[in-house]
Amino acid sequence: MNAPGVWADGCNRYQCLGVHRPVPSILGTQITTTLEETAAEAIGGESRDRGLESNRQYSSRVNPQWVRLLRLLEMEVSYERCEGVELLTRDGRTILDFLSGYCVHNVGHNHPHILAALEDELERRGPAMLQSHVPERAGELAERLCALAGGELTKVFFCSSGSEGVEAAIKFARTHTGRTGLLHADKAFHGLTCGALSLMGDGFWGKGFGPMLPDTQEVPFNDGAALEKRLASKRYAMFIVEPIQGEAGIRLPEAGYLERARELCRRYGTLFVLDEVQTGFYRTGKFLAAHHSHVDADMVVLAKALSGGLIPTGAVLMREPIYRSVYGSLKRSIIHTSTFSENGMSMRAGLATLNVLEEEKLGERSREMGEYLRERLRTELAGFEMVKEIRGAGLFSGIEFGAPRQMATRLSYEAFKRIHPAMFGQVLVMRLFRDHNVLTQICGNDFMVLKAAPPLVVSRQQIEHFVTAVKAVVRMAHTPGEFWGEALKLAGRVVQV
Ligand SMILES: Cc1ncc(COP(=O)(O)O)c(C=O)c1O
Repeated sequence: MNAPGVWADGCNRYQCLGVHRPVPSILGTQITTTLEETAAEAIGGESRDRGLESNRQYSSRVNPQWVRLLRLLEMEVSYERCEGVELLTRDGRTILDFLSGYCVHNVGHNHPHILAALEDELERRGPAMLQSHVPERAGELAERLCALAGGELTKVFFCSSGSEGVEAAIKFARTHTGRTGLLHADKAFHGLTCGALSLMGDGFWGKGFGPMLPDTQEVPFNDGAALEKRLASKRYAMFIVEPIQGEAGIRLPEAGYLERARELCRRYGTLFVLDEVQTGFYRTGKFLAAHHSHVDADMVVLAKALSGGLIPTGAVLMREPIYRSVYGSLKRSIIHTSTFSENGMSMRAGLATLNVLEEEKLGERSREMGEYLRERLRTELAGFEMVKEIRGAGLFSGIEFGAPRQMATRLSYEAFKRIHPAMFGQVLVMRLFRDHNVLTQICGNDFMVLKAAPPLVVSRQQIEHFVTAVKAVVRMAHTPGEFWGEALKLAGRVVQV
């Protein structure tokens, strides 16, 4: 089954489907077919509908392995329409989105108010990306973001993605402190551009792309003493951390950790930077996850949900002195900028998103529904020995699994883990999607944690559907037979690829 060369890249990882189209390294699989063969395979001989034709083109010209992987996991469906939490497929399925594009769709898919704002922006035929004017609405959006973030965050740099925001934070921190060192937490996920990639806690993502930025160092999350040891060298420009680590397995900070990290950074002259790319915009119940801990960051990186899931937008919020170090003279007025940042569509979408979050009280809803979701999961999954913990904040939750104790399932579990550590989690994801019409994923840097992050507009009824589906799949995983047979089939299909 585990044919020589199948996991030939030696990384033996199956980085989940997840993260920003993270390409699983099931992908370690050696690819011997040509792009044309893959493209032909994508349509199964003939194009049956528009969806399949676009998959064929994608497979031919963009990323054949992505299409192949989705097919392997029986997730290659064509979507007709997406609204709120529901994804309607061309073949008549209604899939509930409990992934939200990794926390992009906080307000739900295609929210009518955001669509209307964008239509209005297009209709007025205003200036777009002149690069020679004061962009309208950018100031208004910046003001509102700073007011919501609070603390001493009074200046904003706009960009188009989370990674781009992290890159900006690296440059700004170095300019401001005159230091080069960069600290990050273990298992962190900060993005896949070279600078951000240098701050990632998992070697998988950077493999083959090196050398990474020099002078970066990892410290264990939740370990104040280890952080202080590094900071005391006074070599570090910034410590960047997700206030609740997402891809690390929805890891929550221990009481007092973020406050201590903040205080230590201040003491040793290092900027305390929060990556709220996934956790921002009420995902965890507060506007920023940092607001649960009452810590004031020097910089906060935002993206994903900022513009309603429709226009790529990111923002770095910072304290005034940092801004001045970067843009402190006329000569430096465009020292760091980006063509698409501050564009009218992004700014309109951002403002409309903030309106929706406020008007629909999605912060409150995130807290209430998140509690409900975790309580229901705890009740329904109690007694299943593989369920280790259900944790989270707001609608950012994870179900952590452990190895089974009973011999019959344990043997299967161990065998599949040896084939690939993500096999168990990926079969859960596959079954939820195929058998129960629920879209979710395992975490990118912890394959034993299943994520639950639906749009914040999710209803109790939709949560009940999710809980029932998870329970059915978990029950199956505790029973020798079908679930493990499925894993075997998946392993077989991987080997054939
Ligand atoms: C916490 C975190 N930071 C940064 C990024 C990078 O964002 P982007 O994919 O928009 O570049 C991600 C992406 O998933 C993320 O989860």
